[in-house]
Amino acid sequence: MLRRLHHEQPDSFAFTPANQAWAEAQITKYPEGRQASAVIPLLWRAQEQEGWVTKPAIEHIADMLGMAYIRVLEVCSFYFMFQMQPTGSVANIQICGTTSCMICGAEDLVAVCQEKIAEKPHTLSADGKFTWEEVECLGACTNAPMAQIGKDYYEDLTVESFTKLLDDLAAGKDVIPGPQNGRYAAEPKSGLTSLTEFDSGKTQYNASVQLATDIKDGVKRIQGDEVPLLTPWVGKDGVVAGRAAADAPPKAPEAPKPAVKQAAEAKAAKPTAKEAEAPAAEENEPEVLKEARGGLPDDLKLLKGVGPKLEQTLNELGFFHFDQIADWTEAEVAWVDARLKFKGRIERDGWIEQAKRLQVGDETEFAKRAKEDGIYEDDAE
Ligand code: FES
Repeated sequence: MLRRLHHEQPDSFAFTPANQAWAEAQITKYPEGRQASAVIPLLWRAQEQEGWVTKPAIEHIADMLGMAYIRVLEVCSFYFMFQMQPTGSVANIQICGTTSCMICGAEDLVAVCQEKIAEKPHTLSADGKFTWEEVECLGACTNAPMAQIGKDYYEDLTVESFTKLLDDLAAGKDVIPGPQNGRYAAEPKSGLTSLTEFDSGKTQYNASVQLATDIKDGVKRIQGDEVPLLTPWVGKDGVVAGRAAADAPPKAPEAPKPAVKQAAEAKAAKPTAKEAEAPAAEENEPEVLKEARGGLPDDLKLLKGVGPKLEQTLNELGFFHFDQIADWTEAEVAWVDARLKFKGRIERDGWIEQAKRLQVGDETEFAKRAKEDGIYEDDAE
């Protein structure tokens, strides 16, 4: 199946205020310069909120993480768990079509989907409430055939029980996940033959189903204020464990607030993304030039980690020569770093050490290769 952007896309995307706070908190888990590591959780939260991952959502997440749009699209299109087309407003039904389920009647369940939802998978039903797809083994083979709907498993399905399940979901009725044939969990269908003294009736349903039934969030879209936002790795002073105080990110909220109140407060009090990336103190500005000396700039792309876009950014900041970069002090590195979209590169790629060698005509391995092959860094600025 081709996985590409859907031909119809919404105009914009925004996380709900609580989801935005959650997303920003996830980013603080990763070291400076490694924010891209948060791409999967953020994409997943966007899907939990919207039902699928839209192009504006991909762009929004890329901007939050300082990634090129294409990089986020690559991640999204690689993993099948991300839906790249609209899904039903109530649910996307995932039918397991692997061996156990296939032997026990998965094809009949697919036929129900084709009849009640749409002939082809990933197609909205006429009322827009459902979509369906066939997926690989979901690990509930003992209770085959089964389907995942939202966050829950519905097991031991028959055509009749599955049809009723879809009807109940369409009608907005509460449905009970788990085995649909009276089984408690995954014990033999004929009943327990051992551990019969085990009191399985402590809760009405098995632990997973009990929890799902208590929470009732199986097919619910996630707004972010359902559970408290806990960030134990961020101290009360806003400093992330193991990082210097100067690196403290904007403080993530510790407790949930009603979405409306949070939206108002967020607007009034929360720093904007630009403010959060406030540049380092002006007095640390390195010596910059209006233009290259003698109109002959060095090829800064010979520095590993600097591609055409970063070179342009450096030129715009007033850096044209290796000796300028070689002379940066620690404070000046912070000044420059604060003005780059993808932070931490200067240190990570060792620009200063490279520049020191290049300014005296000593070639680095990377520079040699780049000159020979004409291939430079594909930077994500
Ligand atoms: S084969 Fe269907 S859950 Fe494993």
